Amino acid sequence: MKAQVNGIELYYDAHGSGQPVLFIHGFPLSGRMWKDLVDPLRGRYRLIVPDLRGFGRSQVTAEASMAVCAEDLAGLLDALGEAGPAVIVGLSMGGYIAFEFFRRHRGRVRGLVLADTRAEPDTPEAARDREQSAQRVLSAGCAELADSMADKLFATDAPAALKSTWRGIMRATSPAGAAAALRAMARRADSRPTLASIDVPTLVVVGETDVLTPPSTARSIHQGVAGSRLEIIAGAGHMPPVEQPARFAAVLRAFLDSLT
Ligand code: MLT
Repeated sequence: MKAQVNGIELYYDAHGSGQPVLFIHGFPLSGRMWKDLVDPLRGRYRLIVPDLRGFGRSQVTAEASMAVCAEDLAGLLDALGEAGPAVIVGLSMGGYIAFEFFRRHRGRVRGLVLADTRAEPDTPEAARDREQSAQRVLSAGCAELADSMADKLFATDAPAALKSTWRGIMRATSPAGAAAALRAMARRADSRPTLASIDVPTLVVVGETDVLTPPSTARSIHQGVAGSRLEIIAGAGHMPPVEQPARFAAVLRAFLDSLT
């Protein structure tokens, strides 16, 4: 389905009814990464699963800052009639946007799930690498980026078919969408000062062999957010909802059930 929000057309799927749960995907992915969670969770919750601007079936724009994406998501909740607070689930780049959503719309957050993400901003070197990567995807497309990401996203023993499916999805990402997100991530705010202000129930979750945002990174978020819960998903790298959907769904379900 499509909604007109914040001046663009945003694609989303919505399933079930009950407490709204908004899922924010990582880079360079799409809402499809959450699909295996739908059946285990739709019975009790309203699952709202957008493609962020620049990804999947949503409109591509040159500007895609974390703030703009957070406003897209607030607009989507408005468009869906969800005035009450939602649980915000963000993985990696989705976590950066979740932090921004919390800073801007604290009253609309019932709980936070910060999956395989980090609070630190980019170092100057990382920001320079992102800019080079943005220029490469704009001139040569997303194939090289997709191939290098496919090796880092998954646990080393993840099934080859899974890696190859996601390599294909990432290769199909719009170069302009990927470049806009790379530049936006390079400019993102430092979320470390936000951690102490998070006063909603928070679940921090990470794949045990995540090499992009390892368990030590999740632990520092967990230590910074008073009362947060930390869960480590066995047998998963950076993509637990895709690699270990049953384990991830069980952890998420227990957290969601604890809020009601
Ligand atoms: C992601 O999975 O969203 C990316 O690894 C985030 C990043 O590049 O910082």
